[in-house]
Amino acid sequence: MTTITLIKGDGIGPEITDAAVKIISAAGVDIDWDIQTAGADVIEKEGVPLPDRVIESVKKNKVALKSPVTTPIGKGFRSVNVQLRKDLDLYANLRPCCNLPGVKTRYDNVDIVVVRENTEDLYAGIERQVDEDTAESIKIITREASERIAQFAFDYAVKNNRKLVHVVTKANICKLSDGLFLESARKIAQKYPQIQFKEILVDNCCMQLVQNPNQFDVLLLPNLYGDIVSDLCAGLIGGLGVAQGANIGKEYAVFEPVHGSAPDIAGQNKANPTAILMSAIEMLNFIGEKSAAERIKKAIFDTLNSDIKTFDLGGSYTCTEFTDEIISRL
Ligand code: NAI
Repeated sequence: MTTITLIKGDGIGPEITDAAVKIISAAGVDIDWDIQTAGADVIEKEGVPLPDRVIESVKKNKVALKSPVTTPIGKGFRSVNVQLRKDLDLYANLRPCCNLPGVKTRYDNVDIVVVRENTEDLYAGIERQVDEDTAESIKIITREASERIAQFAFDYAVKNNRKLVHVVTKANICKLSDGLFLESARKIAQKYPQIQFKEILVDNCCMQLVQNPNQFDVLLLPNLYGDIVSDLCAGLIGGLGVAQGANIGKEYAVFEPVHGSAPDIAGQNKANPTAILMSAIEMLNFIGEKSAAERIKKAIFDTLNSDIKTFDLGGSYTCTEFTDEIISRL
């Protein structure tokens, strides 16, 4: 039996996590879930939103499945998600965006992989109030982090038979920080003559993605642009309810959907569990449970193809009904 850390999160987190656990168990994979809580609810009891026990659990088990955790906006504690990625040095945020069968979207054959640097940039959390009317946030970009994420993107491209990597920056304005990210990508690209390498500014990239997403293959971005562009890419394939993700480091991997805690639909049994399920499928592949991963994927695709969909995709199935439909097709 494999032990995996399970962070159920908050908002819609517990609903979609329960769906994933149920489906993985129905697929016959024997996992001992090491359940860990984090976020606003644990502050009262333990004083911090991300207690050491969560980090220790992932360090021990090496792999985690994680649901979203709410971060207060404009005030309050630092993001649990950002801290987790930083503490475990999960430097690569991998977000494949591919059309799903049965989910109607504006464009067919979208197949983009977003590779987002996950440890620095404006997410370093270095901010200060200069005076009452001025605030300052510092954007950190280092050569080391930029080169290793570029290396990750090109290695991923080679291993997954991808042909093209776009590096996405705003190096015309942030000449030093984005300039360094771009320079690092250029350097690594030279080692991979078999992969085509292109440079694009993030504003133009957004416009091109909306007009002609099929021209893109792998996108390599610093943290903030990666965060924004991956939500845009999720929109191309049916929305946040279907967009999967993974945070990968040298030693640990935390699989989680792209979306947040969706407070607007939390507790209503309306959430689409597809995003966490697709993330969990990657987790199963990662731990070597390839046949169960394949069977779950097929059951999800069969369900969607039978026009069984949650509310976000125009359907009327609740999260639990949708989950049961997947299980019946396993
Ligand atoms: P969100 O991703 O939670 O929601 C945006 C919209 O997408 C909402 O209308 C929501 O109902 C919908 N949506 C998201 N996931 C869905 C699903 N599985 N099924 C159906 N509809 C879904 O983004 P928002 O509202 O900006 O953020 C809410 C909170 O989540 C914030 O506190 C934010 O910091 C946090 N967050 C956490 C993340 C994480 O834990 N990795 C990632 C992104 C945001």
